Amino acid sequence: MPSSSIEWLFPDGAGGARLERGVVRIPGGLPGDLVRWRPDGGRETAMVGALEAIERPSPERITPPCPWDSACGGCDLSALSGAGRLAALSRVAARAFGVDVDPPFFASPRAEGHRARIKLAIDGPAVGFRGERSHVIVPIEACRVARPEVVEALARLRPWVAEHGAGLESVEIRSDGARAVFAFTSNGPVQRSAFAALGDVALDGVVVAGDPTLTLRVAGLALRASPRSFYQVNLEVNERLVACVAGHVASLNPERVLDLYSGIGNLTLPIAALGVPVVAVEREGQATADLRANDRAWTVGRPKRAVIEVVEVNVERLDVARVAFDVAVLDPPRAGAPGVLERVTRQRPKGIVYVACDPVNAARDVRPLLKQGYRITSIECFDMFPETRHFETVVVLRRGNGA
Ligand SMILES: C[S@@+](CC[C@H](N)C(=O)[O-])C[C@H]1O[C@@H](n2cnc3c(N)ncnc32)[C@H](O)[C@@H]1O
Repeated sequence: MPSSSIEWLFPDGAGGARLERGVVRIPGGLPGDLVRWRPDGGRETAMVGALEAIERPSPERITPPCPWDSACGGCDLSALSGAGRLAALSRVAARAFGVDVDPPFFASPRAEGHRARIKLAIDGPAVGFRGERSHVIVPIEACRVARPEVVEALARLRPWVAEHGAGLESVEIRSDGARAVFAFTSNGPVQRSAFAALGDVALDGVVVAGDPTLTLRVAGLALRASPRSFYQVNLEVNERLVACVAGHVASLNPERVLDLYSGIGNLTLPIAALGVPVVAVEREGQATADLRANDRAWTVGRPKRAVIEVVEVNVERLDVARVAFDVAVLDPPRAGAPGVLERVTRQRPKGIVYVACDPVNAARDVRPLLKQGYRITSIECFDMFPETRHFETVVVLRRGNGA
């Protein structure tokens, strides 16, 4: 059985090692490990290896700090130290975008207790995370990466679901940093009168008890977030990410910005605060309603030119040619935005700021632009999801050779 030194991580978190004729992907291997493995598929130049033994552990390997380790499908890189993980993920980003220098990584100010949202599966009386690639519910009692108010809400939820879980399919515990609320989905008849005992609750996007709409504080602004609206899970890292995006947009000196996948306006309002009109595009009705409400409620310290136009449509169906803009910002879901940037660049914006939660898909979207006179001028990574292989990347592209 061969032994190999793991040198890097693949984007799916598997360890990567060089072979005489190619590379091998070894799930469970971490950079710095010397591992024994056996061939488990792939081809000669790109093999897959099953980990047999760690012969010499990486100096960055630690004992996972959580009793569930990654059995809950969550923290898949909790066996790697914080610094080791950021270094490895920075390499992942560099490899995805084909750049020589590993981009800077902004670490999460909270190493634990940072997740403001957790989504749990419900099956009758059981509530918990679904195991990785499995339907099994792992009935966790607490979650060390969740914010304290989310953990406290989880403790209230478990006995409640044991009694009233029938007909419920999932629940998201959502916090704005001050209080936690519940957003359930159902797959059958539910006992609606029971929700009041739980607190602030929405069922299938509709309020059923208390007030499940949150108020997030972002860049000095108050942003409403309804039960179905997306918001970033790590509030402190989001603050830095928003500042980073707004800073890049400011440096592009725009006349008008197109903000695709705008959600509740997490980026839209801070960009408009630069004194720039913004066209925001989003398909989820609750998020556009939030964005419009957030726009209306923003009266203090608002620059005159901060005009926001909200377009509720699928980005794929947006007639980009009818929108005037000279800088585009996009923040799509994990699948990226295939084909979208081609339509955006027909308007020849001078700059594009791409916020990506999947660097491989973002690199795929950006690649054609490099043949159209755009070049990457900045890549920065943000540790939005500590202890996992996931992270956010902000990539800036500029047209032409200007600074
Ligand atoms: C990653 S979130 C980003 C939201 C926002 N920019 C922020 O910073 O919070 C992606 C957003 O895109 C929306 N979305 C997903 N697919 C879409 C599509 N095809 N067209 C329009 N909006 C879409 C989602 O509803 C979600 O609000």
